[in-house]
Amino acid sequence: MSSKLKLYIGRKIVDCLHKSTKISPIQLQPLIHVGNPKEKSKIELNLPLNILETSLGITNVNEILKIHPDDIIKSVQLVRDRANRKLSFEIDRNIFIKDVIENCSYPEINFKPKNIVVEYSSPNIAKPFHYGHLRSTIIGGFLSNLNMFVKNNVTRLNYLGDWGTQFGFIQVGVQDLNYNLDHLKQDPIKLLYQCYVHANKLAETDASVQDRARSEFQKLEQGSEEELVRWRQILEFTKGELVKTYARLGITFDEYNSESMYSQKDIRNVIEIMRNKNILKEQNDGRIVAEVGIDKVVTVIKSDGSTLYLSRDIAAAIDRYNKYKFDRMYYVVGNDQSDHFYALKSILHKMDMPWADRLVHVKFGKIRGMSSRKGTSVFLKDILDECRELVIKRQIESPTTKVPITDQETSDVLGVSCVVINDLKQRRQRDYEFDWDKVLQVKGDTGIKLQYTHCRLHSLEENTGILPAKQCDPAVLIEDEATELVKALAKFQDILYASGEQLEACLLVTYLFHLCNHISKALKLLRIKGTNPEVASQRLLLFVTAREVLKNGISILGVKPLKKM
Ligand code: ARG
Repeated sequence: MSSKLKLYIGRKIVDCLHKSTKISPIQLQPLIHVGNPKEKSKIELNLPLNILETSLGITNVNEILKIHPDDIIKSVQLVRDRANRKLSFEIDRNIFIKDVIENCSYPEINFKPKNIVVEYSSPNIAKPFHYGHLRSTIIGGFLSNLNMFVKNNVTRLNYLGDWGTQFGFIQVGVQDLNYNLDHLKQDPIKLLYQCYVHANKLAETDASVQDRARSEFQKLEQGSEEELVRWRQILEFTKGELVKTYARLGITFDEYNSESMYSQKDIRNVIEIMRNKNILKEQNDGRIVAEVGIDKVVTVIKSDGSTLYLSRDIAAAIDRYNKYKFDRMYYVVGNDQSDHFYALKSILHKMDMPWADRLVHVKFGKIRGMSSRKGTSVFLKDILDECRELVIKRQIESPTTKVPITDQETSDVLGVSCVVINDLKQRRQRDYEFDWDKVLQVKGDTGIKLQYTHCRLHSLEENTGILPAKQCDPAVLIEDEATELVKALAKFQDILYASGEQLEACLLVTYLFHLCNHISKALKLLRIKGTNPEVASQRLLLFVTAREVLKNGISILGVKPLKKM
């Protein structure tokens, strides 16, 4: 629904209150929600009293109850259900339905766009893309899409891990296995991983390998030109392969950054600022540490002068602020890095960076039991391949499949939908169990259900042979199923708002499953074929609106809506 009706109520409320209560209708608007009254044909918009009283300090509720009924507001009541008290406004059904159908699928933009940076995915080159990176990719994609949808300026950023002693191991492996750039180009991620595993094996029996790795990395850190050029090349190959895999997930980035952009020589002035602000302490062993919180220190520069994950992140945050002047920067990274992001923010505060509070660590839980059925490989590409194969198998077994099974793209999209929806339906910070059977269920709340409903609506539009009405005539949509579907559609914008505030995609996913249930019920009852054309075209308009909302919702979750399956 549009904000018009909510603002109308907001204005009425403000008019009733004493002039001394400084509240604007815009403040009230997000608090007003569509209710679910027992009498289905009724429309109620509700406003919880506890928020009015505690956050807005409105105590003269009785004044609000004096609002005179008019064409839009039919009555105002104080309702108690269990422990909650709310103000309930009964709204004219026809006005509500018309407003929703004409305004629900796209947001009204009445604020200045914000600059949002979303850093997500951020795998380490030469290491498997593990579940943490997968969740980060999916959740970060969702956050970016949501912010794009409400017309913020979004920068999608991937921060590749390519720096630190561990990368010395890769160098040792590359030398020991005699790989040149031509080899590495063929299958960079797997071969580099092989090098990493190989060097680590060697190190188990040969203590000198550790030293070799360290000195290889030091060569890089000290900026030996020849080594660096080679390193950058390896980074490029990896990026190339990542881009292809991301495309299957429907993920793109505006920027690929990497930790190596913030190596020793690049961050000298950042260290200088910290020194001037008296945050740093030199330790006897040569390390430089910074204090975070009370009584806790973290190392920012190692005794050999090389940088650490944390120091590179400090430099990166400053660099990004200078580039993007962000209002918010989200780091979509697992729960296990909470201490790291706490330290990062705390140091930026101590450095007097006025924007330090704009950094948000969007943390998430673990996926347990995620491995491929065929083995323990956890490369993203393998998971996606396996998913596609399983989908194809199920499509072959299903009697309702409409696309040729050779259409790999559809199977790929379906597979991806299942993995993405299964992830986003979980509360972000909770750990969950990965179970292929649950992920791919045809019945039940999966990506398949959302896609299937979208396809049904699509084929309805294509096959009825009539056009949707140009304007909504609510008087024709009299059935309860229509009213219920409209009420569900009216909640779309509220849900987007709540998902964005709480950074929880599961609110949107759960909403879309409910919406699909309402759509199925309505499809059963509100027939189009064989119905008088006036009614049919109004019903079709309702279904087109529902499809639009479903399509937008699915797309925000990062899934490509299918037209046939
Ligand atoms: N590459 C890191 C890892 O795999 C994640 C990077 C997260 N982002 C950051 N700015 N530290 O653990």
